[in-house]
Amino acid sequence: MKNILLGFVLIFLLIQIIQPARNIDYGQVPSTDISKVYKLPENVQSVLRNSCYDCHSNSTHYPFYSYIQPLSYYLEKHIKKGKEELNFNEWGSYSRRKQTNKLESIVNQIKQKKMPLTSYTYLHPEAQLSEKQIEEIVRWIELTQAENEK
Ligand code: HEC
Repeated sequence: MKNILLGFVLIFLLIQIIQPARNIDYGQVPSTDISKVYKLPENVQSVLRNSCYDCHSNSTHYPFYSYIQPLSYYLEKHIKKGKEELNFNEWGSYSRRKQTNKLESIVNQIKQKKMPLTSYTYLHPEAQLSEKQIEEIVRWIELTQAENEK
């Protein structure tokens, strides 16, 4: 029994050595960031930064526990996948059509409360969107889409 426990402790310690590359960009806000492409109201911008940028940008704010394996592996997988689907830092490099689709997709995801991911808001309760914030983002997107269609 003691040996099995010791084995687990050893494995736990050993996997700590494996640390994935971190999603951190020490530079300034890139010129392709969504805030440079549109007139983004302050409230919408801060919600996106607080609730979405950890997975949908080139820079994640890592909490201390994100360095603990196997959690670290799990988080990095989400960040990689989230970034592939939608990267607010690279918005300006998307085609018009892709931008339109992604804006629509954002409306769907937040209305259905699929984003931010529950596993994330569990650890970051402050990232949870209030009804008011959802409404503000949706309204801003509707205005932007109408503007784009002109
Ligand atoms: C913990 C990481 C995480 C956070 C935080 C997060 N997302 Fe996501 N997001 C993902 C992942 C991973 C996917 C890929 C699909 C999936 O696994 O559901 C995704 C997919 C999406 C998609 C679908 C893209 C497409 O092309 O269909 C949209 C839109 C989206 N997220 C918007 C948001 C918005 C808006 C926020 C903030 C309010 C947010 N996400 C916060 C991880 C995250």
